[in-house]
Amino acid sequence: MKKNIFLLLMAILALSSCSKSLSKKEVEQYTIKGKDIAMATQKKLGGTLVEKMKNGGVREAVPFCNTKAIPLTKEMSEKFNVTIKRTSHRLRNPDNKPTDEEVLIIDEFSKKLKSKKALMPVVELDKEGKPHFYAPIIIKKKCLACHGELSVDVTQVSDSIIESYYPKDLATGFKEGDLRGIWSITFNESE
Ligand code: HEC
Repeated sequence: MKKNIFLLLMAILALSSCSKSLSKKEVEQYTIKGKDIAMATQKKLGGTLVEKMKNGGVREAVPFCNTKAIPLTKEMSEKFNVTIKRTSHRLRNPDNKPTDEEVLIIDEFSKKLKSKKALMPVVELDKEGKPHFYAPIIIKKKCLACHGELSVDVTQVSDSIIESYYPKDLATGFKEGDLRGIWSITFNESE
């Protein structure tokens, strides 16, 4: 009898975990939404950054990133009712530290990039059953002044400004086309 109840419980568990996966259509929808949110956030961060770089170069742009990157990301999170995070395997700000799940995704993207495979966004349910969107962040030319090679792209002066805000900075030495990190967006509605 006990064994039967156990088997029944296992069957219920198996069924309920099945119904918890996302349908193909949901994956498509969250991919579109995630891409839109990441693009809007990038525009918001990047737009002001370009302005600051034009006005005062790295000396003005780095303090802007230091005080505004996380609050601006939070503002966009509230706007879209999601949690937006930018994280990396080579961090500048330790507050952007990746979770175990994010580390796995970053590894997956790195491997794909190395073997020259296309990097596509990933949508899956996270541990809490919330839909989660991940997409690669690739280094472009305009990122190099603050994330490129020391003394080549990042001047000594820029480097010392960055160092003064981020003494544990690991986010230089990148080349155009490298994986800088990922967007990690959690949708607050659970399925
Ligand atoms: C003016 C210098 C500057 C430029 C240009 C710049 N960044 Fe950054 N970046 C920073 C700073 C400073 C931080 C830390 C922000 C913070 O404190 O949250 C940062 C953080 C990040 C992070 C978050 C992860 C981490 O390491 O903390 C990512 C991802 C990132 N940058 C990608 C880019 C990309 C991609 C570009 C080009 C499109 C770019 N950055 C251009 C200065 C810059």
